[in-house]
Amino acid sequence: MSANTNTSVSIALGDRSYPITIGSQLLGDRQTYSALPKASMAFIVTNTTVAPLYASQLASVLAERYGEVHQVTLPDGEAFKTWETLNQIFDALLLHGGDRKTVLFALGGGVVGDMTGFAAASFMRGVPFVQVPTTLLAQVDSSVGGKTGINHPMGKNMIGAFYQPLMVVCDLDTLQTLTSRELSAGLAEVIKYGPIADAEFFSWIEDNLPRLLARDAGALAHAVKRSCEIKAWVVGKDERESGLRAILNFGHTFGHAIEAGLGYGAWLHGEAVGCGMVMAAHLSQQLGLVDSAFVARLTALIRNAGLPVKGPILDARDNAGRYLELMRLDKKSEAGEIRFVVIDGMAKAVVRGAPDAMVRAVVDACC
Ligand code: NAD
Ligand code: GLY
Repeated sequence: MSANTNTSVSIALGDRSYPITIGSQLLGDRQTYSALPKASMAFIVTNTTVAPLYASQLASVLAERYGEVHQVTLPDGEAFKTWETLNQIFDALLLHGGDRKTVLFALGGGVVGDMTGFAAASFMRGVPFVQVPTTLLAQVDSSVGGKTGINHPMGKNMIGAFYQPLMVVCDLDTLQTLTSRELSAGLAEVIKYGPIADAEFFSWIEDNLPRLLARDAGALAHAVKRSCEIKAWVVGKDERESGLRAILNFGHTFGHAIEAGLGYGAWLHGEAVGCGMVMAAHLSQQLGLVDSAFVARLTALIRNAGLPVKGPILDARDNAGRYLELMRLDKKSEAGEIRFVVIDGMAKAVVRGAPDAMVRAVVDACC
C-alpha cells in the first residue's frame, strides 16, 4: 500500500478531540507526530515481543522530536495486565526523571495500550499519551475511546480510568508480523461492528474475509477505517458509557467470563469475544429478537474467521452456574442483575436482562 492512501478519522470530544491516523509507513515517519505538543521527554512503553520489531524505529523518530527518549519493556501477555506490571511503568518513569510534561507512547497491542493509558491517567495525576497500536484488535478497538485499565483476578478490566490519548497512530504495516491467531482475534472486534451498527459492513466482511485473512493491505485499511469510524461515532455520543457505548460490549459479558474463568491468557481476548458473540446471539434468539438464520450467519462468519464458536467448560459440576457467577461481576450488572448486549435485528443492539434459566439454557447449548 502506498503512503498516499493514508487517511484519518476524528474522535469528536470537544477540547479532548483527537485524530486516528491510519495508513502505511507511519510509525517511523516524523510527519506523523508533527502536530503533537512539545514535551520534556518521550517515554515508550512496549513489551518483549513488540520491542525488537518496532521500538527502535519509533525511538529514532521521537529522539529527533523530543531529544530525550526512554523505554520500558514489559513482559508480554494478558496475565501481566496487573498492578505489578503497571508499577514497572511508574518505577521506570521515576527512575528517568519523568515529569508532568513527559509524553507516554503505548507501542503494542491492547494490553500495552490499556496499561499505558492507565499509567498516563494516574502518573502525577495525568500526563499526555499517544497510542501506537500494533495489533488489529488494538487498531480497531482498544486504542480508540479512552478506556484504560488492568485486570483483577476476580474480573476483567475492573480497575481503570477513562482517559483519552492525544492521537492514535495505526500503522497497517505492523499487522504483517502478527501471528494468524492474533489476526483472527482482531477480526472478532471487526465483525462486532456489523451486528451492532452496520449491516453493509457486515456483508462486506463476509465477502472480503479471504482478503482480510491474507492481510491484503486495501482490505485491512477499509476494515480499520470503518471500525474506527463506528467506534468514534459511538464514543463521541457517549464517552463514559452512560448508555449507548455499552453496545461496543456485544459478546463481552460471556467473553469476559471465559477469560476470567479459564485464567487470563488461556484464550485470547478476541477469541473469547468471538465465542461470546455466538452465545449472545443465541440469547438474542431466546429473547425473540432475532431468528435462527441470523444466529447461523453470525456463527459462520466467526468460525470462518478462525475463531472458536463453542464455549469452554469452566466448571464440570455446574458450568452454567459458573458462567452466571462470573458474569454477575460484569461492570454492566445492576443490583446483581446481569445486563447483556443483545441484537434486535441486524445492525441494532440493545441492553437487556434475561432470566437465569434462559442464560443457563444458552450456556448449555453453546458449550
Ligand atoms: P495483546 O496486547 O496481548 O497483543 C497480542 C499479542 O500480539 C501479544 O503477544 C503482543 O506482544 C503481540 N503483538 C503485538 N503487536 C504485534 C505485531 N505487530 N507483530 C507481532 N506480534 C505483535 O492483545 P490484543 O488482542 O492486542 O488486546 C487485547 C487487550 O485489549 C485485552 O486486555 C482487552 O481487555 C483489551 N481491550 C481494551 C479495549 C478498550 O476499549 N480499552 C477494547 C478491546 C480490548
Ligand atoms: N471496547 C469497548 C469500549 O471501548 O467501550
